Amino acid sequence: MSAAPLVEAENLSRIFDVSKPWLNRVIERDEKRFLKAVQNVSFAIARKETFALVGESGSGKSTVAKMVVGLLPPTGGAVSIDNVDMWSTADTNERQKLRRRIQMIFQDPYASLNPQWRVKHIIADPIKAFGLATDGAEVEHRVGELLRLVGLDPADGHKYPHEFSGGQRQRICIARALSSNPEFLVCDEPTSALDVSVQAQILNLMRDLQDRFDLTYLFISHNLAVVRHMAARIGVMYLGRIVEIAPTEELFRAPQHPYTRMLLDAVPDLAMTGRARKMVEGEIPNPISPPPGCAFHPRCPLAFEPCTVKIPPLVAHGEREVACHAVEAGRI
Ligand SMILES: Nc1ncnc2c1ncn2[C@@H]1O[C@H](COP(=O)(O)OP(=O)(O)O)[C@@H](O)[C@H]1O
Ligand code: SF4
Ligand SMILES: [Mg+2]
Repeated sequence: MSAAPLVEAENLSRIFDVSKPWLNRVIERDEKRFLKAVQNVSFAIARKETFALVGESGSGKSTVAKMVVGLLPPTGGAVSIDNVDMWSTADTNERQKLRRRIQMIFQDPYASLNPQWRVKHIIADPIKAFGLATDGAEVEHRVGELLRLVGLDPADGHKYPHEFSGGQRQRICIARALSSNPEFLVCDEPTSALDVSVQAQILNLMRDLQDRFDLTYLFISHNLAVVRHMAARIGVMYLGRIVEIAPTEELFRAPQHPYTRMLLDAVPDLAMTGRARKMVEGEIPNPISPPPGCAFHPRCPLAFEPCTVKIPPLVAHGEREVACHAVEAGRI
């Protein structure tokens, strides 16, 4: 990457205290319990790039998203956007200014829209909050423009969220996110709740908007086919860690990490080559007491001695980074 990245996550970590209440712990002689949801996650996203995080449910994707947009404080590491440290108290003023430039789109477009507000008020809210327009007519004009931009009618602004379909509601969420003229959008499973045909329309809309407004995306999904359509680079997460990062086409052409291979094997065969589709095998272990060494070893067909003892570090191979003892030992 030549230019300085817009977004940088460095050793980002988040531990949750999931202990029982104090009294129960004393009575049951139970210890405190901690869940390491995200561990030492690092990545950089260039301006106008789409970087994706993919992994099964519970791998820590949403926790990363929340730390990156400033909704959840990390317990370790740092996030910086345009060289402003998102969580350093020294940057409080700068951070306030950053809020306009970052927006998030969530999985459930209904839960994230206030059901009692008309759509035009929902979209106008950030415009007013950030002081981007104050005059009523100007705000109304801008709301109409945003609705048109996402493929809705300005007259739709008078309606309430429940009057729209799931796909239309996600369009409303996108219009609201764009209303503050952001540069960086974090999209957490934005189409996972939608029908397949509607999914494609929303993904294409997001790509068009990216080109038009030079947006930078952190795109999160458990679905590799979706991620392939959207991202230039992909980070694969397993139990709170990134196990492989690679440019999209390289990842699909020659996946290295055994977990990435397992995920790819489970993708439906779009080219109809007759290749048998394998299901993802085994279950994600309990993150409160993860397996020692490489957390993937109980499911890994290539596991050998060091895997149960030592956590494999992410090692760079050209543009790709992989965390696997078998790869380093040339066993793949
Ligand atoms: N507020 C929380 N308190 C305790 N545990 C949490 C909290 N949020 C997430 N977790 C746990 O952290 C892990 C990662 O969750 P999440 O980031 O939502 O994963 P994903 O988005 O990949 O499904 C899961 O084991 C989840 O149960
Ligand atoms: S480090 Fe070992 S257990 Fe982990 S993915 Fe590589 S071979 Fe499998
Ligand atoms: Mg999630």
